[in-house]
Amino acid sequence: MIDLRSDTVTRPTAGMREAMATAEVGDDVYGEDPTVAELEAEVAALFGHEAALFAPTGSMANQIALQLLVPPGDELLCDADAHVVTYEIGAAAAYGGISSRTWPAVGAEIDPDLVAGMVRPDGYFAVPTRAIAVEQTHNRGGGGVIPLATLRELRRIADDHELALHCDGARIWHAHVADGVPLHEYGALFDTLSVCLSKGLGAPVGSLVVGSAEKIARARFVRKRMGGGMRQVGVLAAAGRYALAYHVERLADDHAKAARLAEAVAPFGVLASPVRTNIVPLDLTKHPLDAKALAAAARAQGLLISVLGPRTARLVTHLDVPDDAITRAADTLTTLLRA
Ligand SMILES: Cc1ncc(COP(=O)(O)O)c(C=O)c1O
Repeated sequence: MIDLRSDTVTRPTAGMREAMATAEVGDDVYGEDPTVAELEAEVAALFGHEAALFAPTGSMANQIALQLLVPPGDELLCDADAHVVTYEIGAAAAYGGISSRTWPAVGAEIDPDLVAGMVRPDGYFAVPTRAIAVEQTHNRGGGGVIPLATLRELRRIADDHELALHCDGARIWHAHVADGVPLHEYGALFDTLSVCLSKGLGAPVGSLVVGSAEKIARARFVRKRMGGGMRQVGVLAAAGRYALAYHVERLADDHAKAARLAEAVAPFGVLASPVRTNIVPLDLTKHPLDAKALAAAARAQGLLISVLGPRTARLVTHLDVPDDAITRAADTLTTLLRA
């Protein structure tokens, strides 16, 4: 099977397993795991922030950050297709009491003026807006990369209205590789970021919340409250450190592979948007096959793809898909789409 459903399906490499097996560990709830401490310091430094906190999942990292930025009852603004309001199962409302309001799904093509127009001021007559969240790269937005100029504009709007700005940076590494923007330049624009080690970087588990020392001290408390305090978790932090050392710059290969797949399917009019990173979004609105039918036919040919909606599907490249598998996947897709 060639698995293009997601970049989360990767398995730890031999080198990563070796790093995990030999990691120094301690009880991290006591703050005694040296490998976790090293990972947290390394990631904080990469983004030019004071501190970072290791969390089991990207969803928890996002939700910890949002709870730091938005008090219960107050409001978060984000894209209608953002992971935080689509795939986190209502966590912002359920755990943080956060009211979320969305702008129409536009992926990475955010209109800062539209966002500015949505901000509600403090007062007793309306829900006050406290934070804006963006997703870099945008998962349901086809792996789109929000331009630096847009992010700077959003920072200005956040400052003007005294709002916080959060980045769901599950795939911020992909944006960094695609646009060449240094990670610390992204970091400087946000109050908090969540970044993932298990989306394309190949670690089995792990995300971090990044922010000021004060925020991360609070984040540690919120993580424990959510049941995310972990013990000898240096074995996982070691996988993350390995991923950062060896699997960031190679994302360019995944982007090139996605571009090859995009080129193969484009003649059939099913490419939803231009491919910038490792995600190839398919729009089957004008094609005789719907998403389920295409996925079922592909599965029968040994290719797994994701169904995101009745006429929406997705292919994702990652480090477990070699070049020859991309060639086979492209052949399979062109055969099915042509039929
Ligand atoms: C953009 C984005 N944010 C957050 C997450 C959440 O990560 P996790 O599955 O580790 O909770 C994902 C997962 O794919 C994602 O794509």
